Amino acid sequence: MPTISPISPVLVTGASGKTGTRVTHSLEARGVTVRAASRSGPVPFDWDDRATWGPALEGAAGLSIAYAPDLAVPGAADTVAALAAMAVDAGVRRIVLLSGRGEEDAELAERLVRDAAPGATIVRAAFFMQNFSESVFLEGILEGELALPVGDVPEPFVDVEDVAAAMVAALSEEGHAGRLYEVTGPRMLTWREAVAEIGRASGREIDYVAVPPADYAAALAAAGLEPEITELLMYLFTEVSDGRNASLTRGVQEALGRPPRDFAAYAAGVAASGAWDPARV
Ligand SMILES: NC(=O)c1ccc[n+]([C@@H]2O[C@H](COP(=O)([O-])OP(=O)(O)OC[C@H]3O[C@@H](n4cnc5c(N)ncnc54)[C@H](OP(=O)(O)O)[C@@H]3O)[C@@H](O)[C@H]2O)c1
Repeated sequence: MPTISPISPVLVTGASGKTGTRVTHSLEARGVTVRAASRSGPVPFDWDDRATWGPALEGAAGLSIAYAPDLAVPGAADTVAALAAMAVDAGVRRIVLLSGRGEEDAELAERLVRDAAPGATIVRAAFFMQNFSESVFLEGILEGELALPVGDVPEPFVDVEDVAAAMVAALSEEGHAGRLYEVTGPRMLTWREAVAEIGRASGREIDYVAVPPADYAAALAAAGLEPEITELLMYLFTEVSDGRNASLTRGVQEALGRPPRDFAAYAAGVAASGAWDPARV
């Protein structure tokens, strides 16, 4: 059993996001005072405005870093490393960085954060299951067709509950300093199989269509997405989804002492909540 030794307060960046909300609630359940930081949150924090960083960090004992939109965007590695350095100077004792699996730029960010804060814990995550219910893929699921430029490449989708739990462990327990947890789910699924599981769980017919990358890029542009986000999505669904992440890891077991949650449990939970029911959303 890990030794729980909460430190307080903890500055949680991206606090209103998929991981941040869960990190916040779990830390609070452990008695930690959380500074919930984002552009619109109670603690003003903007990655693009360093003047907001110092006040947010003042007096903090811990720091959770979830960079938005993604560590793969130009300049992100230097930005998160600068925050880590500022945090160390401000006396922050525990730092966790949320990173992405198979992304060269995310690994650069990990190295730079480690240079600034050698004791930082890295949680390097596979694609989140919750992308299907709380993010970019929800619209397609509700419309009954998800189209992506990814063929039959297996991906070990990870539950954000597990990602956040690993981050919370790093911030509130002994024994995680300097560790790298590469976290995946317990099973690989192609995107087509994942969508089929969602269809079965929610009792609806949902198609998965593998589209040519150029068609996908054109559709994103036509939908009015910023070029930076189009470029990021193309990178994630072509380069990062080329099969390099088609393997399972033991990161959740190592961080939490239990196996990761399966996609079927995730799908059953979301279906029961009504979030995939077009009539209720
Ligand atoms: N999705 C995946 O499958 C996946 C897999 C592995 C790793 N990751 C990593 O997860 C991270 C994103 O975490 P998430 O998915 O939990 O977040 P999210 O759900 O995308 O939410 C983004 C959060 O960041 C805040 N934010 C956005 N722009 C900001 C800015 N300029 N300055 C300060 N805060 C800003 C948002 O709040 P405001 O709008 O109020 O600012 C929100 O709290 C990325 O670094 C990504 O690389 C994602």
